Amino acid sequence: MDKLRIQGGVPLEGEAHVSGAKNAALPIMCAALLSVEPLRLAKVPQLMDVRTMAKLLRQMGVEVSPLAEGRLALRAARITDPTAGYDLVKTMRASVLVLGPLLARCGRARVSLPGGCAIGQRPVDQHVKGLQAMGATVTIEHGYMNAAAERLRGARIVMDMVTVTGTENLMMAAALAEGTTLIENAAREPEVLDLARCLVAMGARIEGAGSNVIRIEGVRSLRGAEHMIMPDRIETGTYLAAAAATGGRIRLLGAAPKTLDATLEKLREAGARIRVQDSTIELEAAGRPSAVSVRTAPYPGFATDMQAQFMALAAIAEGTAVITETIFENRFMHALELQRLGADIAIQGNSAVVRGVERLQGAAVMATDLRASAGLVIAGLLADGETIVDRIYHLDRGYEALEKKLSGLGARVARVS
Ligand code: EPZ
Repeated sequence: MDKLRIQGGVPLEGEAHVSGAKNAALPIMCAALLSVEPLRLAKVPQLMDVRTMAKLLRQMGVEVSPLAEGRLALRAARITDPTAGYDLVKTMRASVLVLGPLLARCGRARVSLPGGCAIGQRPVDQHVKGLQAMGATVTIEHGYMNAAAERLRGARIVMDMVTVTGTENLMMAAALAEGTTLIENAAREPEVLDLARCLVAMGARIEGAGSNVIRIEGVRSLRGAEHMIMPDRIETGTYLAAAAATGGRIRLLGAAPKTLDATLEKLREAGARIRVQDSTIELEAAGRPSAVSVRTAPYPGFATDMQAQFMALAAIAEGTAVITETIFENRFMHALELQRLGADIAIQGNSAVVRGVERLQGAAVMATDLRASAGLVIAGLLADGETIVDRIYHLDRGYEALEKKLSGLGARVARVS
């Protein structure tokens, strides 16, 4: 089990390149199932979750060939086994994204229920409800969803709540359905729009992606295409929060600033000076950050995936911040670990009241989920002394070359096995 050893107290300085977005790459890899022709991707981040998705697709008969740096070719010439087994699905809930494409392509699919994870129960009822509205029969037996449909039919689907992968699954299924599908109360996340762009390049007819009403006119088949994955807005926000927390000055290259407006706004509120120029974001911290309250919400609101990072920032800020998590029911585990570093945090329901302290003291902490780990790394970077973050496989799932990029920004971090 790898750990990260961090010597804190060093402001981040310098520049780093933003990687491709994990949460765009994963659904877009599944889109390859919708065509017999090759899908060629660029700027695919080298991450554990991407390798897991590649393994899952290969098990179904998809050829997945990593090419040069960040390029990936996928070809689902034929699908030998439309199944996603529990062994892989339990390690990555995004595996559920094969359900819609498999149903659309093969007319059947057997996908393990993802099961919960550290941050919550993570149900997929909206995915199932939407597919049933499109004519699929879905039964749940022995922990698996067994779905079947002669040919999916277009339908008007009103989502009960905003779900990112739910929207993505249904958009992919609708691309090959007979007739037109309307997805209302759709997720507006940039990753949904990036997937739609890739599907349109493959010949899909989609309007409204990125808004809360998406209209998909089904076609008989989709062709291959080339697509460049969008920059990762959560990775970008994570490094910016780390720079603001450590009183540093960094420049991020190859970013998509318009996809993280809420985060940039909150960092400015915390006192950071931010300059945006095309795909470059520069942040210069102004000494100790001011406390900033955040409330997570679906896009374009403040991203739940940035909540842990902002709790670490709040831990040493001037003043008191209230951090409210409205998306997941159990996404404060990092608070308990931050308290071990000396943070003053009181949890009240789905809110955490964080009273900023002058300094945190380094200690041994344990990562519980991907973004909680990022929050702990930020705390380690700003704490006095040494912090050891354990179970950093969580980080490897979502942050490409993390210690390399941090070291490049002057941080004193090392991976220890
Ligand atoms: C996506 O997860 C992201 N993952 C998550 O990022 C992100 O935190 C989340 O969206 C919210 O932005 C990927 O894109 C691969 P949801 P997803 O369905 O789609 C409830 C990371 O760190 N819900 O939008 O699984 C659900 O329980 C990960 O990269 C239902 O009740 O999240 C949650 O409370 C973590 N029924 C809320 O909706 C459903 O059928 C939002 O979940 C679906 C969801």
